[in-house]
Amino acid sequence: MRHLVDFEDMSIGEWEKLYSLCRDIMSHPDDYRDSLRGRTIASLFFEPSTRTSFSFQAAMLKLGGGVFGFADPVFSSVSKGEKLKDTIAMCSSYADAIIIRTPWEGSAKAASLYSECPVINAGDGGHLHPTQTLTDLTTIMEIRGKISDLNIGFCGDLKNGRTVHSLIKALGRFPGISFFLISPRALSIPPYLRNFLKEHRLRYVEVTGLESTMPQLDVLYMTRIQRERFTDPAEYDRHNNIYILNAQKLRLARKDLLIMHPLPRVDEIAMDVDGDPRAAYYRQAGYGLYIRMALLLSLIREGKSKPEHVPPESRPHLCKNPNCITFTNPYVPIQIKTEAGVKYCAYCDKEV
Ligand code: NCD
Repeated sequence: MRHLVDFEDMSIGEWEKLYSLCRDIMSHPDDYRDSLRGRTIASLFFEPSTRTSFSFQAAMLKLGGGVFGFADPVFSSVSKGEKLKDTIAMCSSYADAIIIRTPWEGSAKAASLYSECPVINAGDGGHLHPTQTLTDLTTIMEIRGKISDLNIGFCGDLKNGRTVHSLIKALGRFPGISFFLISPRALSIPPYLRNFLKEHRLRYVEVTGLESTMPQLDVLYMTRIQRERFTDPAEYDRHNNIYILNAQKLRLARKDLLIMHPLPRVDEIAMDVDGDPRAAYYRQAGYGLYIRMALLLSLIREGKSKPEHVPPESRPHLCKNPNCITFTNPYVPIQIKTEAGVKYCAYCDKEV
């Protein structure tokens, strides 16, 4: 049984197959109307969502299947103190796939240990968001026709933006990508990603200026400052509105620039950009529906299987990240990975 916790769970060949299925669905949606009739997904959203949860629901309905779940854990037994393990074990016996979003980093990976159906990570805190990455890759393919030899700029909160983390890791597996990482120093990419870029000998620069970088870019991926990840509101206020892309600044950009944003946008893209043919963010959100249809079809068709029993962890976790799933759910087994001689928590990717 397959899960999608991280884009790394997929080979490039599998991505190509998924994208080709997505294209077929876009061209012949009626052929897929009954593909998942009688199947159900559990949509477990412990954090707010519009596009991700709605596009998964719409995807499942368009495939003839059903959806149950919650958009706020207040309406589930989690509010009574239920552990993630129990919620997942139960829901996975009712559903054919689980879509989960939580504020806890590594939660989808932990959930996958206890699930008898595929678990899809719809965002685990400030860590990863692989189905947004599928959406982003689809957008680049549809509009640029290739994912290679591109200068890609990421701008905004690169520390906390999970869509950025997932997409950088994914793009690192395609040839000829140069990364321009535009952020204030305090909101630069997490150390594990910097090590990833170095380890894979990828071309990247970290800069603070958007305007000075713009003329070099083929793709500009804007992000909002992730207010909910800040413990100090003053720190958020200091960084909010630091980058604002507007029609005037776009005069510096290439004629075929692709402007992307995972949305929601706050003020980092002025509305005077929306009518520019280079603005792709609404189209991007639209592609999310079709690639999620392809994903649900592929994973659900593989079927379910009971997970092996995982004994509760008795040793203390080494991970000191208070947002890590191991912090709130210490019964999950210790998992450490080593990359380039550095040890990381395998759930949240923080150094231990
Ligand atoms: C993103 C997320 O939830 O991480 N939204 C989305 O899923 N499209 C981006 C964000 O919230 O800034």
